[in-house]
Amino acid sequence: MVKKGGLMMLDVLRRRLARNFTRPRPCSVHAESQKTDGAAAEAQLGVAPLPTAASGTGTAKPEGKSTDPKPIGLLPVDLADLSNENFDLIAKTVSSVVRRAIPRKFDQRMAALAGGDTDANRFFYVGLEWLEFLIRYGRLPPWGKVLDIGCGTGRMAVPLSYYITHEGEYYGFDVLQESIDHCKREIEHPAFHFDRIDLSHHLYNQPGVIRSDTYDFPYPDELFDATFAASVFTHLDVPTASNYLRQIRRTLRRGGRAILSFHAIPADALCGEGGLTRLLGVGQGEWAYRFRNRGNGYYTHCDEYGAPKNHYLSDPIGDPVAYEIDTFIRLCTEANLKVIESFPGAWRGESYRFGWQDMVILER
Ligand SMILES: C[S@@+](CC[C@H](N)C(=O)[O-])C[C@H]1O[C@@H](n2cnc3c(N)ncnc32)[C@H](O)[C@@H]1O
Repeated sequence: MVKKGGLMMLDVLRRRLARNFTRPRPCSVHAESQKTDGAAAEAQLGVAPLPTAASGTGTAKPEGKSTDPKPIGLLPVDLADLSNENFDLIAKTVSSVVRRAIPRKFDQRMAALAGGDTDANRFFYVGLEWLEFLIRYGRLPPWGKVLDIGCGTGRMAVPLSYYITHEGEYYGFDVLQESIDHCKREIEHPAFHFDRIDLSHHLYNQPGVIRSDTYDFPYPDELFDATFAASVFTHLDVPTASNYLRQIRRTLRRGGRAILSFHAIPADALCGEGGLTRLLGVGQGEWAYRFRNRGNGYYTHCDEYGAPKNHYLSDPIGDPVAYEIDTFIRLCTEANLKVIESFPGAWRGESYRFGWQDMVILER
């Protein structure tokens, strides 16, 4: 059950976002929120209005001057006018409001099924964190079209369903039927679409009949404003990663962005083909990894003694996987995607700034 206070704040936020993106229509994902008194809630929040895109500096537009809202197409010029600081502010505001609005319904088995966190707090936190990433680095507006590769059981889709309006579109696909069924049950939103694709994966879907390394995403060219894969390239082999990057490029609009998380082997831990890295990761337990170099800049997870290992079942290859950073960047540039930024994750013991895994922001 969604709390009314949260919905009111969400409504305020939508109105602000509409203003910021110079799109003069507040939208609602959930019909109930249309009934709330947004102005009252705004007053109750007691926060200063966000700077407008038109002003650029954060000061209000002088009275009497036309605000001249630009028509918004798939690539709203207005978004390009917004500074990183504005995106940052919007992202944080959205996530703090959505945090109050989302139902705290946690299904531990479903979280584990997608290989996600089995700790409820961390599960919700990571979903909200990706919502922030998508707004801040993906520059995703509420009416944007977004692709979630390997959507799992909806860790990111749930918070996104409180942000994306009926005018937007979300597509998520995964190889696990149960995960997709769960998403369809939990998220009732007319603009959200979930598809199960029977792609083969050595850990998640061994009997799968479709090859991942040649799979054509079932979406038209240049459809998406933003695409993301949260902890998915962390499980893909080099040919599949290379194919997926080309598919991401094909289905992103010009200027659209992709956010991908992955594991990069640090330079001082690289080893020759067949060799084992030192223990990487936080602590000596579940979250510490040793990887074997399988060639071509590709590493798979091993236990202390070098045997293939993963967190959920035993498989013959080792999962998750990691990349030599140069290999991963090369795959991105070969797919004609520009690397805008990359961030080290906290998994190797770095301070927690941009998520658990390493992350790359790409632009078409
Ligand atoms: C660690 S989980 C992450 C799930 C979700 N993105 C999240 O962060 O909660 C990895 C997901 O990738 C999916 N997967 C495995 N192989 C895939 C493939 N070839 N294409 C798309 N998804 C795949 C798995 O079924 C699983 O749901």
